[in-house]
Amino acid sequence: MNSLLRIANVKKSFEAPENGVVNVLNGVNLEINPKTITSIIGSSGSGKSTLLHIIAGLDKIDSGLVEWQGDDITQWDDEKIATFRNTEMGFIFQFHHLLPEFSAIENVMIPAIIHGKSEKESNRLAKELLDEFELGHRIEHRPNQLSGGEQQRVAMARALINTPSLILADEPTGNLDEKNSSTVLKYLLSLRDRFNVSILMVTHDMSITEDGDFIFEMNDGKLLPI
Ligand SMILES: Nc1ncnc2c1ncn2[C@@H]1O[C@H](COP(=O)(O)OP(=O)(O)OP(=O)(O)O)[C@@H](O)[C@H]1O
Ligand SMILES: [Mg+2]
Repeated sequence: MNSLLRIANVKKSFEAPENGVVNVLNGVNLEINPKTITSIIGSSGSGKSTLLHIIAGLDKIDSGLVEWQGDDITQWDDEKIATFRNTEMGFIFQFHHLLPEFSAIENVMIPAIIHGKSEKESNRLAKELLDEFELGHRIEHRPNQLSGGEQQRVAMARALINTPSLILADEPTGNLDEKNSSTVLKYLLSLRDRFNVSILMVTHDMSITEDGDFIFEMNDGKLLPI
């Protein structure tokens, strides 16, 4: 099977004003195949979000290889990275990052419009997705009129509108109570089969990882299978 994403021996350090250089990633290897669910756990500050930023082309690496479908993304220019991020990836964060002044349906439509779809087509797709997430009756609500779990479901619809191959989720349930967490998680895990995507999820919650295919721990700047 051809992998979607292959990361080999990736190193990344940050200059910290007070304590010199901090080596965050110190030889990370990871391969993601189509339609798989991968979870990453690890203590706070171990570099999990940094790794997701690198995969999204938001952070530059010091050395190593980051390949998307066999192509080295570190060589791409900003425009190619921006298109890649908008079309191949969907993002779900701990805090939904929905735009507060826009309705649920407008939030979902925006990536499609940026991608060049017409307003009519974007609206149709967004409505269809919000229906899929059982939010058809909430499409005109603004984010602050929705519950935390509903906001995350809007964020999932937004992440899917451009039919990405990979969903990156950074502690998607970290800010939710137990009931909302389990609903959001149920939806998230169902995306693989419903939308033919792979999911790469960072989490603190060990119970979450049981339903995935692969689990890694970020430890001392490396990813170790567990
Ligand atoms: N832009 C930056 N400049 C300097 N240091 C940074 C920067 N981004 C991250 N770091 C440092 O890199 C380390 C890893 O951060 P990262 O956010 O990847 O951790 P994490 O595993 O996601 O933690 P958490 O579970 O708390 O979200 C931390 O020590 C952090 O302070
Ligand atoms: Mg983090």
